[in-house]
Amino acid sequence: MTIQLAKPTDKIELVVDKQVKLGEGACWDPDTQCLYWVDILGKSIHIYNPESGEDKAIGVGTMVGSLAVREAGGLITATTNGFATFDLDSHELNHIAHPETHLPGNRFNDGKCDPAGRFLAGTMAFEETQGAGSLYSLGSDHQVTTLLEDVTISNGLGWSPDHKTFYYNDSPTRQVLAFNYDLETGQISHGRVIITIPETMGYPDGMTTDEAGTLWIALWSGGVVGRWSPDGTLLQTIALPAYNVTCPIFGGPHLNHLYITTARKGMAEKQLEQYPKAGGLFRLKLDGVKGMPSFKFKG
Ligand code: BGC
Ligand code: CA
Repeated sequence: MTIQLAKPTDKIELVVDKQVKLGEGACWDPDTQCLYWVDILGKSIHIYNPESGEDKAIGVGTMVGSLAVREAGGLITATTNGFATFDLDSHELNHIAHPETHLPGNRFNDGKCDPAGRFLAGTMAFEETQGAGSLYSLGSDHQVTTLLEDVTISNGLGWSPDHKTFYYNDSPTRQVLAFNYDLETGQISHGRVIITIPETMGYPDGMTTDEAGTLWIALWSGGVVGRWSPDGTLLQTIALPAYNVTCPIFGGPHLNHLYITTARKGMAEKQLEQYPKAGGLFRLKLDGVKGMPSFKFKG
């Protein structure tokens, strides 16, 4: 398969200049044409409206690692205290399941809905203790299944366009894994390494896929989003005016606008001077690419 290079139609735009601590968890809502994202350490959910240019931050009082839109309305979130629905009118969190009540040193991190409407999200220790985290799948019946254990910083999830492959990053391993994905049962199998990120490029963080089947991976400590084909070929890199790049997602009416969250966490004073806009939300409009949609939670 020949993969067309995506052409930027303009420069990287800083669409939300907020310098948050740990921007993450971006998710596109096709119905409202808005982007949801989070500041994990700032304990807030953000709603960015590209049409008005407004970004509304909602303090939720607890760390939200990731979220997705619910078919029933509102959001599903992965918080420090497990899975919770979030009401966009009352701003109330309603906790529904917590697989790690016995692990108070952990919090939820990256998550995303699968094409069947389950919500997958993983955990990590606040101290980033090796192997303390797991990856879970929350069904529409609110039952939780453990998919992986012995994970350190659970990150980057994505699916191939035929929904048969699931991609996953445990950041410190520098490896991008592929699994066979059974959409009917939600089970994963046959894990294999498809990409090893070179040391000079940093660590794989959030990730998204496009209709051509390529992977767009945010690189923490790398200052870029890299685009790889599933055979491990690096196709393109997009440099950002931020060092810790955390989560890319496609949005816009044609799913060809790449939104990218960034962080200030983990940066030295000198680096913050070098990257004063770190923590902002960025966008790159592209030609010749169409992202996979952000799937909704069916529960
Ligand atoms: C986590 C951060 C972590 C970073 C490093 C992010 O997804 O939320 O806490 O430092 O990954 O890989
Ligand atoms: Ca992340």
